[in-house]
Amino acid sequence: MTQKQIEDVLRSVMHPVKEADIVTLGMVEDIKIEEGKIRFKLVFPSPDALSGSIKQSCEAAIKNAFPSENLKVSILELVRERKIAKKAHLELGQEALVNVGHIIAVASGKGGVGKSTVAVNLAIALAREGFRVGLADADVYGPSVPKMTATEGAQPVIEDEGGKEMIVPIEKYGVKWMSIGYFAEAGQPLIWRGPMASNALKQMVLQVKWGELDFLLIDLPPGTGDIHISIVHDIPLSGAIVVSTPQAVALADVEKGVNMFRNKDINKPILGFVENMAWFTPEELPENKYYIFGKDGCKAMSEKFDIPVLAQIPIVQSIRESGDNGSPVALTDRADSHAFRKLARKIIDMHA
Ligand SMILES: Nc1ncnc2c1ncn2[C@@H]1O[C@H](COP(=O)(O)OP(=O)(O)O)[C@@H](O)[C@H]1O
Ligand SMILES: [Mg+2]
Repeated sequence: MTQKQIEDVLRSVMHPVKEADIVTLGMVEDIKIEEGKIRFKLVFPSPDALSGSIKQSCEAAIKNAFPSENLKVSILELVRERKIAKKAHLELGQEALVNVGHIIAVASGKGGVGKSTVAVNLAIALAREGFRVGLADADVYGPSVPKMTATEGAQPVIEDEGGKEMIVPIEKYGVKWMSIGYFAEAGQPLIWRGPMASNALKQMVLQVKWGELDFLLIDLPPGTGDIHISIVHDIPLSGAIVVSTPQAVALADVEKGVNMFRNKDINKPILGFVENMAWFTPEELPENKYYIFGKDGCKAMSEKFDIPVLAQIPIVQSIRESGDNGSPVALTDRADSHAFRKLARKIIDMHA
């Protein structure tokens, strides 16, 4: 019997509310195997009413997997709150954010650069580090959270809260998701424009029952138009991440994005760039890097604007496939997920 086997068995134990297994949620630590005895820690990010039943499910799963071994299972339950202090100053209409720690916009000058891929994988990676995370998909023109998380068709419940209608987010993979896509007929393109778009987009953030969160990410629509300025102005962002490919065209738009956040009426800090599709490495030639969209494009921007490059993410087939099939790569421990884990740890360090 190995640690890995035990871990695999524990992957069958789901957290009933968070809709992910306890290993994926990062709740299992320090598995030890001694003669006839298995010990591990079950770590909860906050006090959890379901802890007793989850513990029982763990015991049952292990005994089931190794019926002949007459095993003793000893589980140490821990609550390790990793709550991040809140800083934002709230205005009228922002009550939904009262228990939200840091609000980070994920922006790009241009569509198709992987903004949603970065936002969704970062959300999952932050949750796996033990934080409470939400993601508002405010891309009115192309919401992609439902597909990327396989929650298409989910219909969020609307609750009345003191006369105000509030939308309950969808929980899955340890993250609370909200998307404008949950309110559109499947397959129908969203072509809202002007004030309607900007209102819908703000509702995805301000009219949602987020509850207590350490991080709320906002997947902004690509571009730097009036809608962006309006949302960036009206939501108490703690900062922004700008996603780009190294390609020059994308970078011209990046410059506009930087100027938008640094505009004197907006003035929100840019935490850094994420350079996506930074290179391609074929599986059969793992030492080779091909810079399909150019090399170190974000580095030049970084020097010009004095903004750090937080991550360089290669083009990897499994990143696309896992996004397309609703089970993002950040849920796994595969090598392709490491860039997102590193990015998450940088974001955590910046706010700790
Ligand atoms: N690093 C990557 N490697 C491979 N495919 C990627 C990567 N990043 C994004 N993609 C793919 O590129 C397409 C566009 O990404 P998406 O995140 O939807 O972009 P955006 O939100 O900026 O429009 C998607 O099909 C996605 O799976
Ligand atoms: Mg997108």
